[in-house]
Amino acid sequence: MPDLRSFMQELETRGELLHIEEELSPKFEIAAALRTLDSGPAVLFNRVKGSDHKAVGGVCGRRDRICRALGIQPEAFYQRLLHAMDHPTSVKVVEDGPVREVVEEPRLSRMPVLTHFEKDPGPYITSGILYAKSPDGSVENVSFHRILILSDGRATLRIVPRHLYRICQEARGKVDALDVSISLGLHPALMVAAASPAPFGVSEFEVANTLMGGGLRLVKCEHIDALAPADAEIVLEGRILLKEETTEGPFVDLTGTYDIQRRQPVLEVVGVMHRRDYLYQALLPAGSEHLLLMGMPQEARIWNYAQNIVPTVRGVNLTLGGCGWLHCVVSFKKFREGDPKNVLLAVFSAHPSLKHAVVVDEDIDPFDMEMVEWAIATRFKGDEDLLVIPNVRVSSLDSASDQTAELGCKVGIDATRPLAKPKEKFSRAEIPVSEDLKVFLERLRDSGKRG
Ligand SMILES: Cc1cc2nc3c(=O)[nH]c(=O)nc-3n(C[C@H](O)[C@H](O)[C@H](O)COP(=O)(O)O)c2cc1C
Repeated sequence: MPDLRSFMQELETRGELLHIEEELSPKFEIAAALRTLDSGPAVLFNRVKGSDHKAVGGVCGRRDRICRALGIQPEAFYQRLLHAMDHPTSVKVVEDGPVREVVEEPRLSRMPVLTHFEKDPGPYITSGILYAKSPDGSVENVSFHRILILSDGRATLRIVPRHLYRICQEARGKVDALDVSISLGLHPALMVAAASPAPFGVSEFEVANTLMGGGLRLVKCEHIDALAPADAEIVLEGRILLKEETTEGPFVDLTGTYDIQRRQPVLEVVGVMHRRDYLYQALLPAGSEHLLLMGMPQEARIWNYAQNIVPTVRGVNLTLGGCGWLHCVVSFKKFREGDPKNVLLAVFSAHPSLKHAVVVDEDIDPFDMEMVEWAIATRFKGDEDLLVIPNVRVSSLDSASDQTAELGCKVGIDATRPLAKPKEKFSRAEIPVSEDLKVFLERLRDSGKRG
């Protein structure tokens, strides 16, 4: 079965799993190591202070690694995810699975949950995906939610007004608490699916199952009415108390700055299922893994909207420098002079949190930020190619805007070359190179890297 361990085995074979033998504390030290190695290998912490369990982090910390986990090239990501969201497949529910090796009372304080940053109010679970269903069972949903541990059996979680929020709203008045499972230690396909903007009513477990070629298996929880992946490392069995709130945060979100404190529901944890030798999956807030998992599913949606305007989109990049959320580059082949601004409008509608977008011609790789800047330098003219949309909804995470009203300004940059001018004026000069010289240059590049 595809699970976190089988994927880590693949990473090990490829030399992409770094083992750390030094004992590190879950309070700050592991987070500091993950930050130092961000965008690099996945990291296995073999000795975690105060715990018999190992921790692993950075598993989804690179775009190419996430795509490899799905068995695809990066260019195929958008179509693959959109196809899975359009074709969810029902998932096998099995009697037993590795995650049921131990079923016990919750002792959250004994789990190696990381405290990441200086002003964090306590340890935060950041890699957990939460399954919930409506009280009548007609709607199922799976999504990521950060969880602040308050005691052995109590926690709170952040619920952004989306699908889980709607399920909670609709359940109020019918029930006092909503049964939920929170699963950690998962194959990347499950994490991508849980972060995807599938329509309300579509279970992201079913999206994951399509991404995994039918390889997902679910088990029933022991103490509550919920499902969870049979091959997870850990499952918390909980109940969201719909009438009880507490303070959540401050928490470092995508921007790397502290998000505000809010009143959020209390999560009562009533049981835990886990593998006997479970691995604790860490995920560094504002690290590349957080940004990619948030951003890549939105890129698929942006790609879809942009493709509706021009069927020649080369790629979409919610850039890491733009927090994987606020800045986007779209590369496409322009046919008409008006295409870029229409693409910019489509991109802003596809992802309402977006603040700045740049559109470039198809000869510019949207993932090569030096080339993107070169396109702005050589193809953009501020008085004609700038789109400014004031007083519009932006992300609540954008500190430069009105974060309470979520009101701000969007700026679009058309860095495509004007069709009326000769193409040669905007093309980079090439140096003719023979096949033999190419081989030599390749070696030269390698020796340059080593030196
Ligand atoms: C690592 C990570 C952490 C996230 N944390 C939260 C969170 O704390 N609260 C939240 O509401 N959404 C969070 N999200 C975003 C949701 O998972 C995402 O928006 C998802 O699409 C929402 O699911 P839904 O479409 O079923 O509502 C997080 C996403 C990732 C990848």
